[in-house]
Amino acid sequence: MKFLQFSVLPFLIVILSLDGETLAHPYGGFLHCLSLRISNSSTISKVIYTQNNPSYASVLNASIQNTRFSTPTTPKPYAIITPRKTSHVQSTIYCSKNHGFQLRIRSGGHDVEGVSYVSQVPFVILDLVNFRAVKVDTKNEVVWVQSGATTGELYYGIASKTQMLGFPAGICHTIGIGGHLSGGGFGILGRKYGLAADHIIDAKLIDANGRILNRKSMGEDLFWAIRGGGGNTFGVVLAWKIKLVPVPPVVTVFTVNKNLEQNATKIFHRWQYIAHKLPSDLFTAVWIMKVNSSQVGKKTVQAGFRGMFLGGVDELIPLIQQEFPELGLAKENCTQMSWVQSILYFGGLPIQPVEILLNRNALPRSSLKAKTDFVKEPMPETGIEGFMNMFLEEEADFAITMIEAFGGKMDEIQENELPYPHRAGILFESTYIVQWTNEEDAGTYINWIRRLYSYMASYVSKSPREAYYNYKDLDLGTNNVNGYTSYEQASVWGLKYFKNNFKRLVQIKTMIDPMNFFRNKQSVPPLWSP
Ligand code: FDA
Repeated sequence: MKFLQFSVLPFLIVILSLDGETLAHPYGGFLHCLSLRISNSSTISKVIYTQNNPSYASVLNASIQNTRFSTPTTPKPYAIITPRKTSHVQSTIYCSKNHGFQLRIRSGGHDVEGVSYVSQVPFVILDLVNFRAVKVDTKNEVVWVQSGATTGELYYGIASKTQMLGFPAGICHTIGIGGHLSGGGFGILGRKYGLAADHIIDAKLIDANGRILNRKSMGEDLFWAIRGGGGNTFGVVLAWKIKLVPVPPVVTVFTVNKNLEQNATKIFHRWQYIAHKLPSDLFTAVWIMKVNSSQVGKKTVQAGFRGMFLGGVDELIPLIQQEFPELGLAKENCTQMSWVQSILYFGGLPIQPVEILLNRNALPRSSLKAKTDFVKEPMPETGIEGFMNMFLEEEADFAITMIEAFGGKMDEIQENELPYPHRAGILFESTYIVQWTNEEDAGTYINWIRRLYSYMASYVSKSPREAYYNYKDLDLGTNNVNGYTSYEQASVWGLKYFKNNFKRLVQIKTMIDPMNFFRNKQSVPPLWSP
C-alpha cells in the first residue's frame, strides 16, 4: 500500500502549529506522523483536535447521544480526527497503527454503549462528520450516501427529489448511516422491505492496510460481512450505495393509547397473534411506558399502539376493523401524510417542515442503558401483566420498551443472507431502554433493566437468546481489553447477535484484519491474535 509522500517544509509548519505539544507528549509520534501526511497546516487545524485545542470538547461532545459516556471520568481520546479527504482516513489508520493507538470510528455517535468514542486503552477518534454527502439518483433509484450523514439527511435528500421513493432504515433521524448500516437497520418500512442493510448494493471501504475497496475489489465475503456484521471491525466504510424502494405519496399513521385500566394487557396479548401476519403494507409497534393515571396522584402503564400504513385512511380502517377490532381504531386516531413526514411522527416530533431532519440536535440526549430481545411465541397474559407491572416501579420513571412487529419481508429473507440473522419466525423485537438524569444513580437504573431482562428470559428466544447488535449490550460479554479473545469467549455474545453467521464473520475478520487493528469491546475477533 502506498501512503502519501511528504516534504520537510510542511513538517516544520506542523510542529509550530501544534503548540509544542507534539514533541512533549509521549504519544507525540502519532501527531508527527499524521501532520506530515496531511502536510497543509490550515487543513491540519481543521482535521486534528488534540486535548489542548479549544474546540476539542465541543467536537467530542457534538454527537455523543448517550450522556452516560460523557462524564469527567469517561476515558477521552488523545485526539479527534475529522478527515476531509480519503487520504486523511488512510493516514489516520497508518499513524494509529504505527504509534500504538486504537482507533474508534464515529459516524452518528448513537452507539448505546459508547464504543465509537470510548476506549480503555490510548485511542483516537476518527469522526466522519465531514463525510456526509447524499447523492440521490432518482432515475436509477439509487443513492451514494457517505457514512457521516444521518438517516435524517438521507431521508431529506430522497424526499427533496421525489415523493415516490423511500428507504427502509431506522426511526430516529439523528442516527449515523455508518453505524446503522453496519449493524442492520430496522424501521417502519421493515415489514415491507426488510433491513437497511438488505438494500446496500456497493460500498467504499478502507481496510487496515489503507487500501480503498469497493464491492468488486473487496469480494463478496467482505461485502457480506460489512452489511450487518458490525462497525469498527472490518475497516472504515466511507460510503454506501443503496437501492431505494417505492413508497406511495400518502401514508397513514396512527396511535391508540391504552393503559392498564383500559385493557392494555389483553389488547397487547391479542396484538402478538396478529401483528406479524398483517399485510406487509402495515407496520405496527407497541410502546410501553409509565404515565399518569386518570386518578390524581396515581401512575399507570400505557401501551401505545402505533402504526404506519402505506396507503390511505379509508383503506386502513376497514383492514384494522377486520384483523384487529380489539384496538378500536377510529379515524380521529389517524393522520395522512407523506412517508418522510411519518419519520417525524415516529420520532416523536410535531409535524413541521421536514428541514428539521437536517438538525442533528433536534432530539433530547440522555443517559441510558438498552437491551433487546426477539420473541417467537406469544407471551401469556400473566407474563405480560408481570412485565407491565415492572413499569410501575420507581426506577421505570423514564423507561420505555419499544416492541416492533416482524413478519412480512423479514420472514422471506434467509437467516444467512446477511450477518443479521433474526428473520423468519420472529413475532416481534423488543428494545428495553431505561434512562436517568443523575449519574450517581446509574447503578439503580441499570439494575432495574437487568431485572426486567431476567424476568423476560422465559418468554423470549432461547439457545441462543438472540439480541440485536445495533443496540449493543456489554452485559452479554466483551473482548479482552488487551490481547487475545478466543472464539469461544466471543461466541457468548457473537452467537446472540449473529447466530450461525458468527463463524463466517470470524473467518472473514481473520482474512481481512488478522492483526485485529479494527476492534472494540464487542467487535468480531480474528481466529488468532498477534
Ligand atoms: P456510532 O457512530 O456511535 O457508531 C456505532 C458503531 O459503528 C461503532 O462501533 C462505530 O465505531 C461503528 N462505525 C460507525 N461508523 C462507521 C463506519 N463508517 N465504518 C465502520 N464502522 C463504523 N437502530 C435501528 O435499527 N432502528 C432504529 O429505529 C434505531 N433507533 C435508534 C434511536 C436512538 C435514539 C439510538 C441511540 C439508537 C437507535 N438505533 C436504531 C440503534 C442504531 O442503529 C445504532 O446505535 C447505530 O450503530 C448508530 O449508528 P451511528 O453511526 O449513529 O453510531
